[in-house]
Amino acid sequence: MIKKIGWPSTLGVVLLLVWAVLRFFFAEEMYQPSLGYLLAAALVGISVAVVRAVSYILFDVIFQKRKQREAPALLRFMLSIVVYPLLLLPIISGVLKKDLSGILATSAVVSVIIGLALQDTLGNFFAGISIHIEQPFHIGDSILVGNLIGKVESVTWRTTSIRTNNNTIITFPNSKVAREPIEIFPYGNLNRRVLQFPAPYSVPPEKIIPLVREVVRTMPNVASERTPIVRIASFADSSITYEILYWVIDYMWTPDMDAKIRERIWYLYSRNGIEIPYPHRQIITPERALPEGPRFDYEDILNRVEIFDPLTLEEKQEILKGMGRYLYAPGETVLRRGDAGSSMFVICEGKAEVRVPSNNGDSQVVAVLEKGAFFGEMALFTGEPRMANVNAVEELELIEIRKEQIEPLLNRNSELAEAFSNKIAERQARNAEQANRSIEQSALMQPKRVLNRIKNFFKLK
Ligand code: CMP
Repeated sequence: MIKKIGWPSTLGVVLLLVWAVLRFFFAEEMYQPSLGYLLAAALVGISVAVVRAVSYILFDVIFQKRKQREAPALLRFMLSIVVYPLLLLPIISGVLKKDLSGILATSAVVSVIIGLALQDTLGNFFAGISIHIEQPFHIGDSILVGNLIGKVESVTWRTTSIRTNNNTIITFPNSKVAREPIEIFPYGNLNRRVLQFPAPYSVPPEKIIPLVREVVRTMPNVASERTPIVRIASFADSSITYEILYWVIDYMWTPDMDAKIRERIWYLYSRNGIEIPYPHRQIITPERALPEGPRFDYEDILNRVEIFDPLTLEEKQEILKGMGRYLYAPGETVLRRGDAGSSMFVICEGKAEVRVPSNNGDSQVVAVLEKGAFFGEMALFTGEPRMANVNAVEELELIEIRKEQIEPLLNRNSELAEAFSNKIAERQARNAEQANRSIEQSALMQPKRVLNRIKNFFKLK
């Protein structure tokens, strides 16, 4: 406060003292109008100090105490343009003896003309003031005005600007923002989003709901504090319409997230043999029919997997008969560390990354697996929980080999258990090395121990 009013008040008081000395001791020798100017200058200095002091008390003390935040600069400016003329006009008329009636009459006319000409601008200006005072939204929040949605970039005394998802900027006059209902999605507020999707009548909700909930829960930008809700919205003509309620951190991402969720649902349905429902129409175009049958030569893929070398052709064909086929979207998690598992996977197409927790609490990639590689063998052969996350890097097509298929082969083929125990020990050792753990620290890491574990687990002789 002292800093703000220091120089104008000092100047005012000094000038006032000079004026008093001149006025009372040297009045006759002085040129009278110059005394008037001196007094006017002193009063101007004091006026500036008074306005600053009032502004400080109003905005830095009272406003801050009540609203717990900084007062907008616009308000200070408003105070100045109202109070300065109120103080300066009496100085001009009283001290300088200037006739103000002309100025006032002209200024009244000018004010009316300006007021009419600037009706809209003034409307925006006052709406800007009310937005500044109320602060219904902040920079970084997303707002929906009419049917336009964007992230607030700036609020000036005349306009509010938002950046849309198309990376364009829309500028609204503040009067529009003040007049229209606006929906505000504060940043970090866990705003809720509702997305509908169809599922066939033939698949029970008990199956659909947990599958979709899990897919949505693990997506980026879905708030981890609230578990998504999946529920039936309505019974439509060709399908049950479900709705997902999920909470997002940044609302501007929701169109991308909706698209991603629909994409994930497609893959989820494909893996679980669920058909996306649609009204059926039969169009027969025999010459353009797609060839039916398998997408890959699965026998060839199994032949590439070295670890299955001890198996005969018949045994491999036995595996292929009972195999499952799955398709994953890029970014999807195929296996989650800590889950139970009783099957392994061979990659037919695409890439997967294997991630384990690192020392600093993040996760690190320990391997990238490509066509012909396998994963999931550790849990399958030892009964331990999955020891790593496996994520699809590209669209990933897999075949799944389950415990029931492997069990009879292990009984007949002792080399197979040995080959897998070597592979498991090698992978575990590599992971321990990456995590800077000593190999002895893990009970399972020696091939022999792994082999014993496999034998116990499968009750082999
Ligand atoms: P499982 O533990 O069943 O599930 C996660 C899988 O990640 C694991 O089996 C292995 O198949 C695979 N995995 C773990 N570590 C590695 C590694 N270092 N290299 C390749 N694959 C790995």
